Amino acid sequence: MTVNSLENPVMRTIFLVVFVLGLSGPVSLQAQNTMTINADQPRNKISRHIYGQFSEHLGTGVYGGLWVGKDSDIPNTDGFRNDVVEALKELEIPNLRWPGGCFADEYHWRDGIGPQEDRPTRINTHWGMVEEKNEVGTHEFMRLTELLDTEPYISANVGSGTVQEMASWVEYMTYNGTSTLANLRRENGQEKAWEVKFWGIGNESWGCGGNMQADYYADLYRRYATFAKDYSGNELYKIASGFSDDNYDWTETVVKNAGRMMDAISLHYYTIPTGNWGQKGPSMNFEEEMYFSGLRQGLKMDEYVSRHSAIMDQYDPEKRIALAVDEWGIWTDPLPGSNPGFLQQQNSIRDALIASTTLDILNKHSDRVRIANIAQTVNVLQAMILTEGPEMLKTPTYHVFDFYTVHHDAMLLPLHIETEDYSHGGESIPSISATASKDKTGAVHLTVTNLHATEDKEVSLNIRGMDVETAGEGRILTADAVDAVNTFDNPDRVSPGPFDNYTLEGNQLILRLPSKSVIVIRIE
Ligand code: AHR
Repeated sequence: MTVNSLENPVMRTIFLVVFVLGLSGPVSLQAQNTMTINADQPRNKISRHIYGQFSEHLGTGVYGGLWVGKDSDIPNTDGFRNDVVEALKELEIPNLRWPGGCFADEYHWRDGIGPQEDRPTRINTHWGMVEEKNEVGTHEFMRLTELLDTEPYISANVGSGTVQEMASWVEYMTYNGTSTLANLRRENGQEKAWEVKFWGIGNESWGCGGNMQADYYADLYRRYATFAKDYSGNELYKIASGFSDDNYDWTETVVKNAGRMMDAISLHYYTIPTGNWGQKGPSMNFEEEMYFSGLRQGLKMDEYVSRHSAIMDQYDPEKRIALAVDEWGIWTDPLPGSNPGFLQQQNSIRDALIASTTLDILNKHSDRVRIANIAQTVNVLQAMILTEGPEMLKTPTYHVFDFYTVHHDAMLLPLHIETEDYSHGGESIPSISATASKDKTGAVHLTVTNLHATEDKEVSLNIRGMDVETAGEGRILTADAVDAVNTFDNPDRVSPGPFDNYTLEGNQLILRLPSKSVIVIRIE
């Protein structure tokens, strides 16, 4: 019914009768969005490592955002700010990737050990040509992983480092016996060898990591992987540098030639709202067009993961090798007035929904995707936390990661979703995205996103294979505008609240989601 037809009194009366009857019961609204799960047929574990984070020496991501130094007025533990560490701990971060990114391929680990005052100053050539004083090195980073109770993911230098340099770093960190390098670690304060599992061999080796070609990199990977040894019971999980977006040839060549020596190969995909790297689009003060195109671009992750996986299936049908989506997230134009090399951007409800829908895609493909890292944890790109001097705030994306902790290491329940389209400017995307999983206690958790900018959506979930008794612990994240962000003046504009707009009848759960929202709910 159009607005014009309501100007006709007869039509208006018919509309009112239908509307009132609808409210009072006899005419029930049919949910156009339906989902079905078989709770007794879980598929595979959703590795918690899909919820990894990434902290590069880039802008204020590490310096200022995480590290303030022991002498700072900002309360800190061994140099890391307490407020940020405390907030991040709530996300139960499974692994933290460091020190890059592009920075990794110009990072020489010996620069970052020993007394702080003796460490050299280098130039961070990728990110703003700023001084890198190496205050945060191996020992500091490993302390951070302890504070966050997370596993390190070390991204090693292949582009400008030698095989010996990388091999020595492994020995320095993980060898528990007596050797000159292990003793040096002890002299520097760490008696016991660290446990380090995730070991990246090069980053974007086709680009900032050395501009290599696939054949060459595959050979180089084999060489570096040969000398990345397992010491003292530590077992490295070796991750090869994969490609971005849709370069399937790289994946094919590297998996074919070096697959037997790797545990995972990476995939990077950044959501560029306009689809144009030269002019990516703003991170704040935008309208529905930019909201919609951001979400649409984000959903392309599904195609990239599917196609890279299909290539891997040819060489690794048993799925031994994981796809490590170790850089993803929205990348917008830098904030006006900021150093363009610092990749500072705001974080809106749109970005939160890009996070929830991307995590749904990664969960769906969790038989192949077993590690992923959003870029980046603090102050850079799609951050969880923004800081300004002593202040910090949680972004809308932070809250999505908080909601999704329920899926860490839970069993994926494949979802059959029938959803209405959300159309804008001649393009369409699905209105609804979701993940369902079953945890160790048998409880089912559901996260559902309504992507539509203006329409509330009713979603009906049919739950098979379990006797449902209760649904509860609902939480919702939504906002009053498509570009709503949290600022230091208004840090809780986009923050979670309780969600109780649902009804449970037998094994059917009807959810009513406001526009641009994501919810989490527990079903038992
Ligand atoms: O996350 C920012 C940069 O994006 C990383 O350093 C690089 O790997 C990618 O191009």
